[in-house]
Amino acid sequence: MKRVVFDRCGPPPEVLRVEDDVPAPQPRRGEVMVRMLASPVNPSDLMYIAGKYGLTPSLPATPGFEGVGIVEASGGGLLGWLRQGQRVAVLNDRYGNWAEYTVTKARQVFPVPDELSDEQAATFFVNPATALAMTQEVLKIPRGAWLLQSAAGGELGKMVIRLGSKFAFRTINVVRRRDQVEELKKLGADHVIVEADGPIAEQVQRIVPEGVRYALDPVGGAVGSQVVASLGPRGRCLVYGSLSDQPITVHPRQMIGHDLRVEGFWLATWAKQQGVMTMLRLLRRVASLLREGVLQSHFAAVYPLECVRQAVAHAVQPAKGGKVLLKIGDR
Ligand SMILES: NC(=O)c1ccc[n+]([C@@H]2O[C@H](COP(=O)([O-])OP(=O)(O)OC[C@H]3O[C@@H](n4cnc5c(N)ncnc54)[C@H](OP(=O)(O)O)[C@@H]3O)[C@@H](O)[C@H]2O)c1
Repeated sequence: MKRVVFDRCGPPPEVLRVEDDVPAPQPRRGEVMVRMLASPVNPSDLMYIAGKYGLTPSLPATPGFEGVGIVEASGGGLLGWLRQGQRVAVLNDRYGNWAEYTVTKARQVFPVPDELSDEQAATFFVNPATALAMTQEVLKIPRGAWLLQSAAGGELGKMVIRLGSKFAFRTINVVRRRDQVEELKKLGADHVIVEADGPIAEQVQRIVPEGVRYALDPVGGAVGSQVVASLGPRGRCLVYGSLSDQPITVHPRQMIGHDLRVEGFWLATWAKQQGVMTMLRLLRRVASLLREGVLQSHFAAVYPLECVRQAVAHAVQPAKGGKVLLKIGDR
């Protein structure tokens, strides 16, 4: 089979290569072997390859955390046997989905409804489950409350805006490109703030003078610091990414005076802390909200696996306008 590998961590367009004649991995008990159809290039994949993620690759390594494929074989166990032949969303916590075949735990594949395209099924877990878990399970944002988010024009940010319309919380959205303002308003954003128009906290204060109660930040650095500075009394901010690669600074007096909570959120850690029933309920909600279009991704480009270097070079570009997808096989 073909697979993508890297022998050292570094800039993704430089360190990735394609091997085209390696044996397919074999599943052990409790695992399944999946023939991959497609897998997105997510920021987490790029950080993993660069050696800047929370998991250290055991080299040589194959990237690819999520995707869609068909279960070809089970290594034993009831769940794996049940999944054989099904089209499934594939989560791979050891990575390895950028390959024609991958092996993962049977409980980490989830059958996807027929009406979902391969593209939407390939992006079933990472962004949709994170957007839903952060807003509905962790922050539990009440109807009418204000949520401030940075990087609002990214794929996950747009899901949060549509979740706001669906569950009736109001969103203030920070973008770095003015050309995204109208697009996000059409999606249902209540307000869109452009970074260049002045300190974010001052712009937020003009909309919500007492400060916001809820915030999400995947940027960090100056933007993340301003997001935290926009919190009002008992404000809570989930930090879920490090796009700027810079630290957040918070004034201790604001933290103490406003009784603030600034917390990290990582889907992998959060999911491990949940019971099976909570996760099943979440994934069923993801499937239903994907069908409704609330948690859908948009795609900037599709590349064959052999063109992985071009795919990752595209994915690191600013203003790329959607997910980059690797097409690996046909149904
Ligand atoms: N913690 C978790 O469990 C978890 C799960 C899923 C995703 N995430 C994180 O969520 C974030 C967004 O993912 P995504 O799939 O939505 O990515 P995406 O579609 O690539 O969107 C990224 C967005 O961030 C903006 N951006 C990038 N660098 C920036 C910077 N330095 N300052 C300000 N804005 C910046 C981009 O703006 P332009 O459009 O102008 O380029 C784009 O709008 C990533 O950090 C990812 O790692 C975390």
